[in-house]
Amino acid sequence: MTTDIAKKVTTCRVCGASNWQDVISFGAVPLANAYLDEPGPEDAYPLELVSCRECRLLSLTVVVDPQVLYRTYSYVTSESETMTRHMREVARLCGERIGPGGLVVELGSNTGNQLQFFQAAGHPVLGVDPARNLAETAAQRGVPTLAEYFGAEVAGAIAAEHGPASLILGRHVFAHIDDLTDVLAGVKALLTDDGLFAIEVPYAVDLLDQVAFDTVYHEHLSYFLISTLDRLFARHGLRTVDVRRLAVHGGSVLVTAARADSRWETGERVGELIAYEKEQGFHTDARYEQFAARVRTTCQELTDLVRKEVANGRRVAGYGASAKGTTLLNICRLTRAEVQFCTDTTPQKQGRFTPGTHIPILAPADVAEQPDLYLMLAWNYAEEILRREAAYLDAGGGFIIPVPQPVVHTRREARR
Ligand code: TYD
Ligand code: ZN
Repeated sequence: MTTDIAKKVTTCRVCGASNWQDVISFGAVPLANAYLDEPGPEDAYPLELVSCRECRLLSLTVVVDPQVLYRTYSYVTSESETMTRHMREVARLCGERIGPGGLVVELGSNTGNQLQFFQAAGHPVLGVDPARNLAETAAQRGVPTLAEYFGAEVAGAIAAEHGPASLILGRHVFAHIDDLTDVLAGVKALLTDDGLFAIEVPYAVDLLDQVAFDTVYHEHLSYFLISTLDRLFARHGLRTVDVRRLAVHGGSVLVTAARADSRWETGERVGELIAYEKEQGFHTDARYEQFAARVRTTCQELTDLVRKEVANGRRVAGYGASAKGTTLLNICRLTRAEVQFCTDTTPQKQGRFTPGTHIPILAPADVAEQPDLYLMLAWNYAEEILRREAAYLDAGGGFIIPVPQPVVHTRREARR
């Protein structure tokens, strides 16, 4: 399907091949962050995963126009304890390597939270984020932000005005970009000779191992292995120098690259993970077939579990109207008949309705009577949420954790 808004993917954005394995098709799904003011008709776009047999990039089959997705963006970086701790750690890890005083440029800088940690360490910073609403919020916080899509042209303008960057960081943005060639050209134009390019992306190994199918939505065009990224960087004159696995967003990696001819040495972990991916079958069709089968099973089990609880007279609500919640609810066909409402701490989502499933979103304080069970739609924060909701659990409440296999957590038991 090719329309003005959704463009079909033909060649691989990493290696240029067009030898795709069909992995799974979820049918037409609305955009994950397109919360509705009123329930009503919506646009939906095919949500399908394919794997490149040459480089094993896992990709969606359509690219939705970034102007539609990002010019006004309702996703704001979480200020949860987990994320704050994580951002401090990223600033420490990257800051340690680049040394004091160098310019830090962040792509997809959202409301500027991550850059504030670099500012605190004495770095000049510049955010780049196409969402005008977010760039304004960031600027009000004292984080200078350019409301643009990063690419070769914008990078040239930044270099001319601010000089070269010691660090270019992109947390959970690289997987959202279709034209990687233009972005990497921009990176090369802006980095100092020994500058670092660091990206944090969901790790395809974790996606498959955790059956985290709900992290698949139209914003996430690519799901990377380290071997795939390494190949991409090499093609563009860069070299992977380090990789760290992280627990955030259901399993991510912080991958650092530098100019191929820079002084940086490649750390051991890079080769180790590339070998691990090969050993574990991530370069074979079979691994992706197995994933698709596990997704179908998990989804069916979750739907059965929720319907059974509802049939037994239990009230079920969603915890966190996350983007991945949109995928989960739509794919598992859970609607208002099963899930009475969702709570979410984000003011911009409260009073609105979930895309496709039209479940009302409430501020946690507006819940008159707690449900018997919460379906954890922000399961990437499960630990923090279970700790915070101790009183609800003590009072007999429970949480359904949907992946990798649906489990109910209560004070009495963890059951399937
Ligand atoms: P997020 O983890 O950023 O995931 P996604 O990329 O799938 O949107 O979103 C989590 C959502 O859950 C966000 O809207 C905030 C909300 N939330 C709560 O309502 N309560 C909480 O305790 C936490 C941690 C998140
Ligand atoms: Zn490829």
